[in-house]
Amino acid sequence: MSNAKPRTDEQHTSTNTGTTTAGETDEAVREEWTDYRFEGEAKLSVEDLDVYYGDDHALESVSMDIPEESVTALIGPSGCGKSTYLRCLNRMNDRIAAAEVDGSVTFDGDEIYQDGVNLVELRKRVGMVFQSPNPFPKSIRDNITYGPRKHGDLDSGVLAKLLGTATTEKADALVEQSLRNAALWDEVQDRLDDNALELSGGQQQRLCIARCLATDPEVILMDEPASALDPIATSRIEDLIADLAEDYTVVVVTHNMQQAQRISDQTAVFLTGGQLVEYDDTEKIFTDPESQRVEDYITGKFG
Ligand SMILES: Nc1ncnc2c1ncn2[C@@H]1O[C@H](COP(=O)(O)OP(=O)(O)OP(=O)(O)O)[C@@H](O)[C@H]1O
Ligand SMILES: [Mg+2]
Repeated sequence: MSNAKPRTDEQHTSTNTGTTTAGETDEAVREEWTDYRFEGEAKLSVEDLDVYYGDDHALESVSMDIPEESVTALIGPSGCGKSTYLRCLNRMNDRIAAAEVDGSVTFDGDEIYQDGVNLVELRKRVGMVFQSPNPFPKSIRDNITYGPRKHGDLDSGVLAKLLGTATTEKADALVEQSLRNAALWDEVQDRLDDNALELSGGQQQRLCIARCLATDPEVILMDEPASALDPIATSRIEDLIADLAEDYTVVVVTHNMQQAQRISDQTAVFLTGGQLVEYDDTEKIFTDPESQRVEDYITGKFG
């Protein structure tokens, strides 16, 4: 990374002397472990990102480029900053009063942490799916059309109301396409006016993915999207994520190592203290990691 600021010395000079309370060895982080090189463009580029919640230093000088149209997995023990990091990518941390973010995130080369960025537009282009399915208490159809209407993508002007059908057809097409892309259409096509809360958990999560797709994002951030689901629903979400990577840039937090290996192209490992310790091709991370701490983590010695 050309314009990266020098890191603090203690990150590089601490020696391999003991273990932390979490059972991790006290190993120095090496910059080359996170300097992941890939072909193609970086969709998001994160430089020297620090996040504080009051005195709690939740992310420490994280630099990481995320390649477009692929799946990037974020793994690491509870509390290491994965959700915090994910929320930095569409400035969702702005909503948390205690959070202070310092550093740079560029999206297609444009800095998102600068004055004048339209946050509604940013979050439309960088959409998010949360751990617990959170559909609106509205019909399945309205869950899909809500975002596009809010953004003005489904014309709701007087003329459109007078003409009527044009907007309805456009909305119907959007509903069908979004549900198809989220692998839910076949299950719900006859009940589009039913309340979304009547769906199963796995269906609700696919509806949330459909709702995210309906606003035509470029990046989809997912925070443990399958952790509340049974194995069959999980497997459907995993298949869906793999399909989505053909058209979207997907960044997904997971606690499930097998899942990270199944669905992702590259994996970033965060460890205690909010450090990004290693970032590389998923296969390399899980078969031959450089860091002893990463090896201990993926083999279940702590976390
Ligand atoms: N809203 C908040 N206010 C204060 N501290 C927070 C807030 N959110 C997170 N933190 C703290 O920041 C650190 C990182 O939290 P974060 O939620 O990012 O971890 P995580 O890796 O996503 O954990 P998990 O795997 O349990 O979801 C933790 O110490 C946490 O207590
Ligand atoms: Mg989390």
